[in-house]
Amino acid sequence: MASVLECIKTRRSVRKYKDQTVSKDLLKQIVEAGLYAASGKGKQAPVIITITNKDLISEITKVNAEIMGSPNTDTFYGAPVIILVAGSLKANEKTAFADGTLALGNMMIAAHSLGLGSCWINRAKEGLKYDVYKDIFHSIGLNADEFIGVGHLALGYPEGELPAAAPRLPQREFYID
Ligand SMILES: Cc1cc2nc3c(=O)[nH]c(=O)nc-3n(C[C@H](O)[C@H](O)[C@H](O)COP(=O)(O)O)c2cc1C
Repeated sequence: MASVLECIKTRRSVRKYKDQTVSKDLLKQIVEAGLYAASGKGKQAPVIITITNKDLISEITKVNAEIMGSPNTDTFYGAPVIILVAGSLKANEKTAFADGTLALGNMMIAAHSLGLGSCWINRAKEGLKYDVYKDIFHSIGLNADEFIGVGHLALGYPEGELPAAAPRLPQREFYID
């Protein structure tokens, strides 16, 4: 397994996936990386919902494409897994969104370290207002109205090589001694 620093640098957003399922064991390792992310006041606001049901993935994709204003687009790139992250406003309203982004970041690095690819897919905040999301929350005993949608990951085995990273823009690091 590559070092953490190597994984951070070589991770890329994956937009083409193999038609191959991801084992529960790997999914749990990735989710665990999200669960262990730092959180405001240690309140652990993020919830992480892993979806492999094909019909549900289609429904979420439909809603996501509609929110994006491009109906009939596969905004999840045919990934066999969607990981939805939302932040509990009851746990920590002030940091729920930031906490969720960190959980997503951890999971992207973890997925890459395990040979999987991922891509952040936006529009979860808007998504939570839709029935399909409300029903997902209801089915696991949660109320979507008590959460802020943070983001999704499309996840699966990458098809093809990962692209090179874009060069890092200048004027983004400063050191004050
Ligand atoms: C907050 C956020 C939202 C993003 N939303 C999308 C998205 O909806 N669809 C998508 O294909 N990529 C999305 N991305 C992925 C970015 O396009 C990608 O990270 C960027 O182009 C840099 O490429 P890299 O991840 O390979 O370094 C998102 C990334 C972030 C951090």
